[in-house]
Amino acid sequence: MCGIVGYLGYRQAAEVCMEGLLRLEYRGYDSFGIATVSPEIAVFKETGKISAAKDAVHLKGTCGIGHTRWATHGVPSRTNAHPFTDCTGKIAVVHNGIIENYAALKRDLEKRGHTFVSETDTEVIPHLIEEKYTGNLREAVSKILPLLEGAYAILVIAEGTEEIVAARKGSPLVLGVGDREYVFASDGLPILDYTRKVIYLEDGDLAEVTPAGYTIYQGKKPVERKVATLEWDAADVRKGGFAHYMLKEMYEQPEVFSNTINSITENAAALCRIREARSVTVVACGTSANASTVFAYLMESVCGIPTRVVLASEFKYFPTPKNDVVIAVSQSGETADTISALKIAKERGAKTFCVTNVLGSSLTRIAETTLYTRAGPEVSVAATKSFTAQVAAFMEIVNIISGGMLKKAVAEIQRYLPEALDCDVESAVELVKDASTLLYVGRGLSYPISMEGALKMKEISYIHAEGYAAGELKHGPFALLSKETPVVAVCLPGSTYPVMMSNLKEIKARSAPEVVIGCVGDIDAEEIADVFIPLPKVSETAGVILASVVLQMLAYKTAVALGTDVDMPRNLAKSVTVE
Ligand code: G6P
Repeated sequence: MCGIVGYLGYRQAAEVCMEGLLRLEYRGYDSFGIATVSPEIAVFKETGKISAAKDAVHLKGTCGIGHTRWATHGVPSRTNAHPFTDCTGKIAVVHNGIIENYAALKRDLEKRGHTFVSETDTEVIPHLIEEKYTGNLREAVSKILPLLEGAYAILVIAEGTEEIVAARKGSPLVLGVGDREYVFASDGLPILDYTRKVIYLEDGDLAEVTPAGYTIYQGKKPVERKVATLEWDAADVRKGGFAHYMLKEMYEQPEVFSNTINSITENAAALCRIREARSVTVVACGTSANASTVFAYLMESVCGIPTRVVLASEFKYFPTPKNDVVIAVSQSGETADTISALKIAKERGAKTFCVTNVLGSSLTRIAETTLYTRAGPEVSVAATKSFTAQVAAFMEIVNIISGGMLKKAVAEIQRYLPEALDCDVESAVELVKDASTLLYVGRGLSYPISMEGALKMKEISYIHAEGYAAGELKHGPFALLSKETPVVAVCLPGSTYPVMMSNLKEIKARSAPEVVIGCVGDIDAEEIADVFIPLPKVSETAGVILASVVLQMLAYKTAVALGTDVDMPRNLAKSVTVE
């Protein structure tokens, strides 16, 4: 979704902003723009890819702001792209979030003679500031903020000044504090090239940055904010010789898995409230919801603690049992549905946790306890290493609560993940790539893994794919089976194996071609499969996690074969900050 960047220092702000916007590309966007002060305000806006327009930007000045837009109010177009200026062209604003009362504000502003050029909600902001601005930009911005209903992170610049005024309510905003330079951004990634010292602005904060330094206000009062250190490295956000970020991130999984196990082990003391819970509710979206379902299976089967997963967007319709533990799971920590679910849980008196990959993200400010996954920055829209990190976190939580019941499985995953990454999926790609529908099936832990496999496939290859509990196929989806409908099955030795084999036979009897991910040496599964992908001989729990990596690779290679935009699939955003 929208991303913002601002720079004030000694470098050319337009260049820093363009680089920063490239770092935020992963969030998803359809148009972008920047504005600088030198000393007039100059604006550049464009639709489409940032990289295509890089050489067309000639704005001068060492103070500037930039924005990637993911259309909400008004079609993607140059006119609707940020930054927006006031009637005089002397004030420029970029904005993330939604101004819910913009229509009424716009009507009033029009009555007072202001002219609007776009269909966006954002454009009311520079016009409101224009009415209050008499030379002190901070004061003008602070006067109009109470008029805005909804969520925002805004950056404002004005002609003839060398300052950026920023404000945050409900949308993320980070201030990087470098040596004689400052970088604002929606997350830490655009900041990494300049400094690792950051301040995570809080709701209600207004920051004023000038060459003399920065001051943060709550209302009229200056406040101190902790300077944190970004743990990520600038090298983490480069492709490093890989064809796609997704492939690079998949190959990071062995390290990420171990790092996250350690992160949870270090936080073992925080888990007692989960251990003592009568029941646990997990709220999440997308891939995080699939990882959470793995957790629910493990919690129920290994720890005997009733655990349910509720899609974050549906949580408000579920009453939370009193004193329940609610865990919000989100790679970014900024997903609006998940944030709003956790807020509701807190209001209802739940004990709140979050599992997230981003230090200082919004969820960490709401949850009483934060558990960090250590996946490092994930750029590809399709989540891979962040999924594996979440699974690692959940396995270690269960391992600690159960007194070591998953120790063997964790060790097996650590040992065999590299082997799983090297599996050969080429024949499977040939079998699935021309299909218009794919079904993914598994039982027990393999069921959420199948859902995640199907999600990966549809996200990046655009082939319609659904994950099913294998036992459910006969209750409807069987009607879809034909030789044109390949089925991808996870079938590993263990408790689910015998009945899975029966399911594979039923599917075969209905002519559907089968890709089976099984255990090396399983002659029966190999015989029934059209394409058999063998995994090393490990426990069932470890095996399904290895299978999830194979399914990622299958989706990746299929998408590459079909020539889609793997890292930035159409219509999707990595960080979905609207409900
Ligand atoms: C978006 C992304 C998905 C992701 C989901 C939840 O829809 O495209 O890949 O799984 O958000 O994201 P989160 O950051 O909350 O884990």
